[in-house]
Amino acid sequence: MRAVLALAALLGSLLLCLCLGWLSADGSGGARGWEKEVRATTGGTPRVMRSLRAASAPAQLEPPLATNRTAPNQTGIQKSEQASKCKELWNNNWSSSIKKKRYSEDYYLQIVGKLQNCTWKKKPQEYARFRSELASCCDAAHNFIASQNNTPLGSNMSYEVDNKKTIHITEDIFRMLPESQPLDYPFKNCAVVGNGGILKNSSCGAEIDKSDFVFRCNLPPTMGSISQDVGNKTNLVTVNPSIIAQKYNKLNEKKLTFLENIASYGEAFLLLPAFSFRSNTAASFKVHQTLKEFSAKQEAIFFYPRYLRNLAQFWRTKGVKAYRLSSGFMITSAAVELCENVKLYGFWPFSKSIEGAPISHHYYDNQLPKPGFHAMPKEYSQILQLHGRGILKLQFGKCLTD
Ligand SMILES: *[C@@H]1O[C@H](CO)[C@@H](O)[C@H](O)[C@H]1NC(C)=O
Ligand SMILES: *[C@@H]1O[C@H](CO)[C@@H](O)[C@H](O)[C@H]1NC(C)=O
Ligand SMILES: *[C@@H]1O[C@H](CO)[C@@H](O)[C@H](O)[C@H]1NC(C)=O
Ligand SMILES: *[C@@H]1O[C@H](CO)[C@@H](O)[C@H](O)[C@H]1NC(C)=O
Ligand SMILES: *[C@@H]1O[C@H](CO)[C@@H](O)[C@H](O)[C@H]1NC(C)=O
Ligand SMILES: *[C@@H]1O[C@H](CO)[C@@H](O)[C@H](O)[C@H]1NC(C)=O
Ligand SMILES: *[C@@H]1O[C@H](CO)[C@@H](O)[C@H](O)[C@H]1NC(C)=O
Repeated sequence: MRAVLALAALLGSLLLCLCLGWLSADGSGGARGWEKEVRATTGGTPRVMRSLRAASAPAQLEPPLATNRTAPNQTGIQKSEQASKCKELWNNNWSSSIKKKRYSEDYYLQIVGKLQNCTWKKKPQEYARFRSELASCCDAAHNFIASQNNTPLGSNMSYEVDNKKTIHITEDIFRMLPESQPLDYPFKNCAVVGNGGILKNSSCGAEIDKSDFVFRCNLPPTMGSISQDVGNKTNLVTVNPSIIAQKYNKLNEKKLTFLENIASYGEAFLLLPAFSFRSNTAASFKVHQTLKEFSAKQEAIFFYPRYLRNLAQFWRTKGVKAYRLSSGFMITSAAVELCENVKLYGFWPFSKSIEGAPISHHYYDNQLPKPGFHAMPKEYSQILQLHGRGILKLQFGKCLTD
């Protein structure tokens, strides 16, 4: 157990904004999932990662563009050179023969630096294609959230992870569920806000708040001066049941503190993985009951376990062989199905910026990631690919203020 916790601490520093902690079975901060994840990652290089590495192979990296600013048509030349380099990055023609290299943060930062310089354009056909792939596997529109529609009274529902175990849907549980899918989709513009330190001084708050629907992870702070960078609008926020246990003593007391702390989310949905692990259930239900008891503005809803299982299976076929997906990645996947445009903020699993400045673990704590970043979350490379394919837009740095 001690080893697991130590690993959790180490991994915690790697996972940054991807909101991984909350699905842990035992409040140990997601250690279990990531223990397996790391083994899988170090065992063999996932295909996607190799692709990304291949993209950064010297032959293709070539740049620095010749910068002769005095040449009359330099801009035109630069633009077209840049465009062809971007095209190269985009078109996924990454030679698989490039020999494996160990993960290096600098390699990734190089790739991200290149991506950052490319103009992003939505590719509606790619988007439609990917969305329909997701719809046929997972169907977030109907199955993202447990509702009375997909969770019959009297049935025995399998847990997402402890899937040999079932929970009997009693009258009391059934009544906690919304009648049908509670989200008023489709949304036009969605923001998925991760918690990465990259958001500090980003000035992204106004842009985030302009979105039609804002997803957040793990009850992050949004009030005070930080809202300039992260916004203060929240429509849905995930909750890690282990926070409820640790910070609010399972809501056996501290109910008012909890209610005060979540007041900043207005009428948001609090999304809990009640049916992922048996140990999540009681705390999740307690959140629901507490909100009802105090007629709070927020509403507790629960992930539908089969949706998460199908989603994990979907990503497994794409090379993400994680034991668990992170909540940030789950939310991102759902957002692609539920929204017409998806933009991601605060996803930055690196210890420094492109320019080399240290980036803190979360925007709300100053804990720097430990050195020796061995395992790049495979999910992030998928997100980079979705960005590259014009399916969603990843905001890398500061938001332009106009
Ligand atoms: C830059 O462009 C100017 C004008 O075309 C040319 O005279 C000069 O030699 C170029 N310098 C370099 C370093 O290429
Ligand atoms: C400069 O580049 C632009 C676009 O690349 C092109 O349309 C234009 O003809 C070029 N001008 C000269 C003088 O080469
Ligand atoms: C893929 O890359 C190889 C070598 O880099 C090149 O020969 C080939 O033409 C490329 N294929 C496409 C479809 O771009
Ligand atoms: C991105 O563009 C900036 C400014 O044009 C340039 O200084 C930088 O080297 C470029 N980065 C990469 C990785 O191409
Ligand atoms: C649910 O499981 C219980 C035992 O745990 C069993 O008695 C019951 O028949 C099951 N109900 C359904 C609908 O499968
Ligand atoms: C953010 O900006 C403030 C003032 O503009 C500066 O003091 C601070 O160091 C910056 N923080 C980061 C993380 O860049
Ligand atoms: C959110 O921030 C805006 C300014 O960016 C402010 O006008 C508004 O009152 C804030 N909302 C809350 C709930 O604090």
